[in-house]
Amino acid sequence: MAINYDERIPNNVDLSSDRRLKKALEKWQPAFLDWWRSVGPQVFSNKDVYLRTAVSTEPGGWSQFGHVKMPDYRWGVFLGAPEKDRVIPGGDHAGKPVWQEVPGEYRNALKRIIVVQADTEPASVEQQRFLADTAPSLYDCRNLFQVNVEEGRHLWAMVYLLQAYFGRDGREEADALLARRSGNEDTPRILDAFNQPCEDWLTFFSFTTFTDRDGKYQLGSLAESAFDPLSRTCRFMLTEEAHHMFVGETGMERILRRSVELAKLAPNGDARELGGIDFPTVQKWVNHWYTYSLDLFGSEISTNAADYFASGLKGRWQEAKRYEDHSALGQTKAIQQLNNGKVIEVDVPLRNAMNELLRDEYVADCQRVVKKWNRTLSKMDTDFRVELPDRKFHRRQGIYAGAHFDRAGNPIAESEWNAMRDTWLPTADDRAYVKSLMKPVYEPGKMANWIAAPRRGINRQPVEFEYVRTDR
Ligand SMILES: [Fe+2]
Ligand SMILES: [Fe+2]
Repeated sequence: MAINYDERIPNNVDLSSDRRLKKALEKWQPAFLDWWRSVGPQVFSNKDVYLRTAVSTEPGGWSQFGHVKMPDYRWGVFLGAPEKDRVIPGGDHAGKPVWQEVPGEYRNALKRIIVVQADTEPASVEQQRFLADTAPSLYDCRNLFQVNVEEGRHLWAMVYLLQAYFGRDGREEADALLARRSGNEDTPRILDAFNQPCEDWLTFFSFTTFTDRDGKYQLGSLAESAFDPLSRTCRFMLTEEAHHMFVGETGMERILRRSVELAKLAPNGDARELGGIDFPTVQKWVNHWYTYSLDLFGSEISTNAADYFASGLKGRWQEAKRYEDHSALGQTKAIQQLNNGKVIEVDVPLRNAMNELLRDEYVADCQRVVKKWNRTLSKMDTDFRVELPDRKFHRRQGIYAGAHFDRAGNPIAESEWNAMRDTWLPTADDRAYVKSLMKPVYEPGKMANWIAAPRRGINRQPVEFEYVRTDR
């Protein structure tokens, strides 16, 4: 699936053979670039950045590195290779051939699914647009930009589906994706986590660890879709998403490492004394972003989720590969519920628990990440460990929203919540402190005081490589 870069819109979908679609996308392209210039990265927006660009969608060897000015990045339409004789992985139509067109009866549901996924992509670019102002190093600045251009690419991927398969209302949705704005009161982005401010790098690394990981699982369930173009689109997006999570995981690990170093040097053992980010602060950011990301999976018990699975619009994580029974009928899943102030388990038909099933996969993946951080901490001879709160803690969506739970998941009174809140979640003072540390470091190889250097550079380049040519 080589990508054709000779056309105005690079693609591997033979765009030149579909004049109407090509015209529609070429009309959308300048609107996208206007959007990028007005709400994309503001600093270094016209400097050379060491970026990777997709060359083919084959696994391995699909990327090429080089210095590019961001507005010249070749955003385009790239789908994973078609799988020969692919059949619908799960639900009522399992085993039948996949759809190459959108069935009329599922048109609205499918469009909604694509729009909601699409909306998160430009939202995160908007949330992160001022971060380069305070980049802790050029290495980090480059990683931020790489994430940004790829989220822009993901928007292209979803807009292609809308314009190619949903006619006029697809084109209208494509325009609306450039009109909503993260955090805007009148025209906000669709999901809550994507309207949260992202103004410091501890937030950026928490976001890329936890919120981009939500994206991984949403894309994973769409990769199992009966609608084949959606599946192929998401399969390729997943390969790009991996880097975003790498940026988050390693960023947090570097903050923790530096925190240990500074705490050891500080007279009272507190990293803040020496301008570091102390452990309790890191833990608060983890609590905040992990729980906001848990919300993105939707309600624990959901008829919509059951319908999406039944119709084949979404599948379970690795539905085709990991399951033998693809009906998910005649099975239940135990879900915790609050009943008269006590947590009890209720058996829910499995199809209605699909959101929770996907959340299970996500939680396990997050636990793996935290375990890795904690291994680093234990090697550095410190007692602190990062902990993920229980999934009922601090939720604003789903069946636990509106009730209060401690970090272990025990129900607590509102008064107790109010008394503890500031020790569990970021306060205005914490945010002000973290923000006070955010000063740019633009000298190649140099790092801000609050973060350790990465263990290696990008694409085998040294850490002190000029990842952003600030003077050219
Ligand atoms: Fe994305
Ligand atoms: Fe991402």
